[in-house]
This record gives sequence, C-alpha cells and structure tokens, in this order.
Amino acid sequence: VLWTTSLMAAFLLGLLLLVLQSPPVPSRPWERGDAEPPAPNGTVQQLPDVIIIGVRKGGTRALIEMLSLHRVVAAAQNEVHFFDWESHFQRGLPWYLSQMPFSLPGQLTVEKTPAYFTSAKVPARIRQMNPAVKLLLIVRDPTERVLSDYTQVLHNRLQKHKRPRPVEAVLMKGGEVNLGYKALNRSLYYLHMENWLRHFPLRSIHLVDGDRLVREPLAEMKEVERFLELEPQIGAANFYFNKTKGFYCLRDRGKERCLHDSKGRAHPHVQPAILHKLYRYFHQPNRRFFQLVGRTFSWN
Ligand SMILES: *[C@@H]1O[C@H](CO)[C@@H](O)[C@H](O)[C@H]1NC(C)=O
Ligand SMILES: *[C@@H]1O[C@H](CO)[C@@H](O)[C@H](O)[C@H]1NC(C)=O
Ligand SMILES: *[C@@H]1O[C@H](CO)[C@@H](O)[C@H](O)[C@H]1NC(C)=O
Repeated sequence: VLWTTSLMAAFLLGLLLLVLQSPPVPSRPWERGDAEPPAPNGTVQQLPDVIIIGVRKGGTRALIEMLSLHRVVAAAQNEVHFFDWESHFQRGLPWYLSQMPFSLPGQLTVEKTPAYFTSAKVPARIRQMNPAVKLLLIVRDPTERVLSDYTQVLHNRLQKHKRPRPVEAVLMKGGEVNLGYKALNRSLYYLHMENWLRHFPLRSIHLVDGDRLVREPLAEMKEVERFLELEPQIGAANFYFNKTKGFYCLRDRGKERCLHDSKGRAHPHVQPAILHKLYRYFHQPNRRFFQLVGRTFSWN
C-alpha cells in the first residue's frame, strides 16, 4: 500500500511539474486589428480608432489633452510617427500597437502625430490599416501658423547653440514670399488636404478650428464629441480661465493642469509690410481649402 501511495504521489508530482512546465496554449498568430491578450487588470493595447493628423503648431497637444477629459478616451502619450518615419513603419503594426496605451475594451484609443498631415504617403498607409478610422485635423490661420512654426524652430536652434536665422531671411526671397520655405508649404492646407481626400471621404475627417479652441474650448470639444459619437461628458466645469497665462486650463477629475509654457510662446516681431505680403499670399490657397472642405474659417 505504502509503495502504491508513493508511486501515486510521484506520478501526481510529475503531472504537476508537466503542467507547470508546459508552454501556454499557443494563441492564433497575430492578426491585423487584434488586440493584445488582456493584462491582468483587464486592459489591452488597441490600434487607434482616432488619429489627430495635424497641423503642426495648430494646437494638437491642447486637442488631445482636452479629448482625454472624456473617460472613454485613452490617448497615447507621445507622438508615435509610425506612418511617416520609414524606420518605424518598417517595424509593422505589432510595433505600432505596442506604442498604444493600455485601455479597457470599448475605450477609444487616440494617437496624435502632427507631421502626418503634410506627409504624402501617410493617407494611403492609414487607410490600409483601417479605412473606417476617424481623423481629426486642427487648423488655424496659416500666417499665424507659419510664425509659430518659425518660433519653434528658432527655439530649437537656440537650444542647440545654432545661429538663429532672422524671420525676414526665411520668409522672403528677393522681396517675394519664399516658396522654398518648408514651414510656408505646411500652411498650404489645400495641397495636403487634396491628398487626404484621395484616400478618405470628407466625412471621415473632422476639422477643429484651432483659433476657436483657444477662445471657446468647450464649444469646439462638443463638436468633437459629436463627431466621435461619444456620450457628452466634457463640460464647462472642465475648463477655467487662467488670467496670468491668458489661456484656459483644464480641470480633470479634481486635478488642475495647464498646458506647457511653450504653448503660446510670443511670436517674433515681423515688419508689417512682410506680414501683409504673407496674408495676401495665403488668400488664394485659403479659398481653395475652404472649397475643398465645404466651410470657411475666420482667416482672410
Ligand atoms: C494595467 O496593466 C498594464 C500592463 O501591466 C499597465 O501598463 C497599465 O497601466 C495597467 N492599467 C491600470 C488601469 O491599472
Ligand atoms: C509643397 O509640398 C508639396 C508636398 O510635399 C509639394 O508637392 C509641392 O511641390 C510643394 N510646393 C512648394 C511651392 O514648394
Ligand atoms: C496660472 O498660470 C500661471 C502662469 O503660467 C501659473 O504659474 C499658475 O500656476 C496658473 N494657475 C492656475 C490656478 O492654474
């Protein structure tokens, strides 16, 4: 009897070890659109349902922060640059997925990379991932945007101890607007929008008025909620005006936070004659953009 019992015990122990050592049940190979297996707390990483595609210096950080006020939204912390940087894109969707925040199934994952808007190959790549993805594009006065773009680059140059280039020297060439200046090109919204509309219907792209978002954040966010078919949750209590800053700050579940100080840096002083030339230059491109998107903005 003793012998049988010990044999039985050894057998059971062996069985136990076998169970402990056996590899986990192999899951199906990873497929497009699959979420990762749930983490112990029930969260998963999910490919984005919503992408903020730009524009650079349009207020994309403010937009994603305000969107995060909604409990359903899970936002990626960093700009992922998946569709525009070859070194990232070559790593494939599993890598992209690994950059996403952990969220509960049913939450909405949002990523923002402002460089997507002006990168020619991005729209086709996003459509290939998910043709039903919802896109948010925040735009502002193109002249203001150029100056803000210039200011950001100037700031970066100063930090790297590089010689600053005077604003007139980059904006103008031979007395005319310098069409070779990249920041200027980024403000030709119609040019880039045409490319997006070759791959997505206009109803997939919601335009956020960046100038209005600064002055009336709640009104703009209500429209974003509607576009994303979210239950209305963002309310007046989420915003308070900071007089020192001259901007709205956010109140999120009792915690107050303002955007980083680099948002709203003062622009360089530009000679009025040059400013005037810029405004005039953008007049036609702006009309073309308004026509494409079927609405107008308060720019010239
Ligand atoms: C859930 O687990 C993941 C991975 O372990 C972690 O990154 C995430 O922060 C957790 N989420 C919550 C809400 O605790
Ligand atoms: C602006 O950029 C677009 C897209 O990269 C390019 O096709 C176009 O030639 C540029 N236009 C000017 C005026 O530089
Ligand atoms: C308002 O803005 C100032 C200047 O950036 C900042 O120091 C202060 O903490 C802000 N106050 C509140 C209540 O957000």
